[in-house]
Amino acid sequence: MCGIVGYIGKRKAYPILIKGLHRLEYRGYDSAGVALINEQGQLNVYKAKGKVSELEAFCSTKDIDGTIGIAHTRWATHGEPNTANAHPHYSESERLAIIHNGIIENYAVLKAGLMEQGYTFKSDTDTEVLVQLVEYTQINRHVDLKTAVQLALQQVVGAYAIAILDKTHPDTLIAARKGSPLVVGIGEEEYFLASDATPIVEYTDQVIYIEDEEVVVIHPVTGNPSPVTVTTINNVTKTPEIKRLELSLSQLEKGGYPHFMLKEIFEQPRTLTDSMRGRVNVRQDNIALSGFIDNKDRFLNAKRIIITACGTSWHAGLIAMYAIEEFAQIPVEVEYSSEFRYRKPVINKDDVVIAISQSGETADTLAAIQLAKSKGAFIFSICNVVGASIPRVSDSGCYTHVGPEIGVASTKAFTAQVTALTMLALCIGREKGTIDKEKFVSIVRELGQIPSKIERVLGEDKRISDFAKIFSYAQNFIYLGRGYNFPVALEGALKLKEISYIHAEGYPAAEMKHGPIALISQEMPVVVVAPRCGTYEKVVSNIQEIKARKGRVIAVVTEGDELVRKIADYCIEVPATEECLTPLLTVIPLQLLAYHIAVVKGCDVDQPRNLAKSVTVE
Ligand code: AGP
Repeated sequence: MCGIVGYIGKRKAYPILIKGLHRLEYRGYDSAGVALINEQGQLNVYKAKGKVSELEAFCSTKDIDGTIGIAHTRWATHGEPNTANAHPHYSESERLAIIHNGIIENYAVLKAGLMEQGYTFKSDTDTEVLVQLVEYTQINRHVDLKTAVQLALQQVVGAYAIAILDKTHPDTLIAARKGSPLVVGIGEEEYFLASDATPIVEYTDQVIYIEDEEVVVIHPVTGNPSPVTVTTINNVTKTPEIKRLELSLSQLEKGGYPHFMLKEIFEQPRTLTDSMRGRVNVRQDNIALSGFIDNKDRFLNAKRIIITACGTSWHAGLIAMYAIEEFAQIPVEVEYSSEFRYRKPVINKDDVVIAISQSGETADTLAAIQLAKSKGAFIFSICNVVGASIPRVSDSGCYTHVGPEIGVASTKAFTAQVTALTMLALCIGREKGTIDKEKFVSIVRELGQIPSKIERVLGEDKRISDFAKIFSYAQNFIYLGRGYNFPVALEGALKLKEISYIHAEGYPAAEMKHGPIALISQEMPVVVVAPRCGTYEKVVSNIQEIKARKGRVIAVVTEGDELVRKIADYCIEVPATEECLTPLLTVIPLQLLAYHIAVVKGCDVDQPRNLAKSVTVE
């Protein structure tokens, strides 16, 4: 997820663009850039690795004149975070400059075609391919820039929000979107473009929300009755609807949610769609993970897979253990990185070590894979930050592509990690022939349904916030689950602990009889993750054992489960799905329960006490 901003009007563009980038930094911050057309008609592009402040320092000695410009703060998806890959990108002739938020899935095919035409590239990004395609189209089809943008976007598969400048037309700003957001701000003789309204709100409350596959041309010249025109990429004219902004700046950064954590919980249908984009192909019943494809033999010859992670990422690793052993039949060990790095583990050259880390900077996990690498193991990382330390040390990996996770409590990164690891398990199993085709196809098709099924679970938010009011008194919670949902119980407990400061423990449900059942009382709520799959009947027995001792049970159940509804005190329903995918649904109510209890208790949900988003020290 990147941030784009554009300006054309009566004022100097640079200050407005830089301030806009600061407003958008929560969307991504590994590099930034700005393009300006000055009074002499020169198109100046300045870029810097790091935060927007790095770009400002770089621009302090540059020609930043001009009343039209575009700017970008990046969250890398294709290509390491560096100056070359930062946006804006010039076209070959340096007549055009483009910024882009999104992922162009077919960029490789488009790039190959342009290279055959003699085009060269300065970056590894999909975005540079797009600006070259626009220029190539304009030259070879003898059309204006708007038409070239329309024709080029007709060839694009994927998601985009773009803005493009042409130094030969310094009075025109063109933008378009599909799958990534784009807002136009209408000021007094000035116009704004941005990924969301945060860079715009201080200048105007009049906005146009651009819809998918629409192209907007802003051409505010004297005598032009329509300075803002909108068409589709197929050149069908649209009538833009001007709306009034009603959200404050702070609310806007959180997408209208009170906290980043809640925003990120509700983002999960989209972030999982982004995470599976270009990988899960439901129409072809296929999964393509480039990190696996390029290293098949290492996985197929692995005698053992070691998973190393911390916290929530470790819980994702536990779920992966169930999936990899079930579908790929390779023994898996899941290690806390902090223990693994110091306990003098036995590591062999034919081991595959999977590191899971949202930040890619967790010190213990980084040290764990450096140890494993020194012993010849193959390192594969599941990470959310392109170019972070852990992916850089790894031999290969899979990025989760969920955009910056701002809330300290991990939510959207966790479901993306589980999804990536499930895809990996399925790919290995299919290559090894240890998963039958029907099962593989069924799970792939279900993966395609997961975003909409999460959407349905999010519909339970109001009921869950009501439960939170009932249970916020509790000093202790127990979370129970079995099989794939045992790690979900651990994750639910961790979510509650870290943001509401209520003590909570997760256990395999069957473990109750080995001690914890002595704790059961009316004062200690028990959350049981009980989807109708796997050892469901045994979980039902566990619930009955708790009820027999006057325990209070909140159960997460499969839609239509009348049996548990009769014995549990409260039920939250999730849609049915493949057993290995149930964690993607059952974790959602637990994320929401922890969130709402923390809010009722007045806790600092996004920045809980004593915690940091990334534990970069031991
Ligand atoms: C999860 O909600 C916590 N914030 C924490 O446990 C986190 O998962 C852990 O520190 C690992 O972080 P990483 O995924 O960035 O390596």
